[in-house]
Amino acid sequence: MRIFNKITDIKAEIKKIKSSGRSVGLVPTMGFLHEGHMSLVRESVKNNDVTVVSIFVNPTQFGPTEDLAAYPRDFESDCALLEKNNADIIFYPEPSEMYGEGFCTKVELSGITEVLCGITRPVHFAGVATVVTKLFNIVNPDRAYFGSKDYQQLQVIKRMIKDLNMDVDVVGMPIIRENDGLALSSRNVYLKGDERTSALALSGSFKLVENLLREGVEDTKTIKEKVADFILSHPHTRIDYIETVHPETLVSVDSADTDFVMALAVYVGKARLIDNRYFEVHHV
Ligand code: PAF
Repeated sequence: MRIFNKITDIKAEIKKIKSSGRSVGLVPTMGFLHEGHMSLVRESVKNNDVTVVSIFVNPTQFGPTEDLAAYPRDFESDCALLEKNNADIIFYPEPSEMYGEGFCTKVELSGITEVLCGITRPVHFAGVATVVTKLFNIVNPDRAYFGSKDYQQLQVIKRMIKDLNMDVDVVGMPIIRENDGLALSSRNVYLKGDERTSALALSGSFKLVENLLREGVEDTKTIKEKVADFILSHPHTRIDYIETVHPETLVSVDSADTDFVMALAVYVGKARLIDNRYFEVHHV
């Protein structure tokens, strides 16, 4: 496994790989890797000749009051996990390498980035779209792997690829959960004491929705109210949003009579957790 810090070096390496006809899979990450990331790495290793994992805590996707400085980092442990899971290349640039002097370009989508997380995190998706575009240009991957825990991010990236005619196949991978249902996230490390138990309110909500749909409740306002009551019955919780949206456009849906995604963002103590579930309404 090789580690590259400089854009020119990794570009030269990718050029060699591509000119020998080998395919490249990219797993973009911000490090502090866990089993969720590893599921993406393993999928890439299975389907590409070379797997590149980028580790970059991207400053432009954090708002001024968000956790950029505190974001957990452990490069050594990341390297050990990636070695074990057969990644070939790590791209680990400094912020100054990615955003050199005079940097002033932004990739910004409208609509799809202005709902859900985009409401409380107004700069987030432009930061994500810009850095992912840069990573695509640097690594030139055939396929790129993203987890569907960040459901909105996945739809934003798919939309951007379509709109900008980018030549990358995006592979969305299922959410990986602990045995008790908590979705894996680097931010779970912020959960202290009984906050860990309260965090189960997010995945628990989906069971509640399943039951409501089975009982024939279709009005999403009622569904969301019941989910809010359920979440707030857990100590240390504060709701950012509870939404029922169209799976691709992320436009809010009023009636659960067609497929929809329930998306949640909930503070549990200091941790802002997100989770979602795709409901195929006639098959719950
Ligand atoms: O999902 C993440 O870890 C980040 O948003 C990403 C896609 C690596 C961009 O910085």
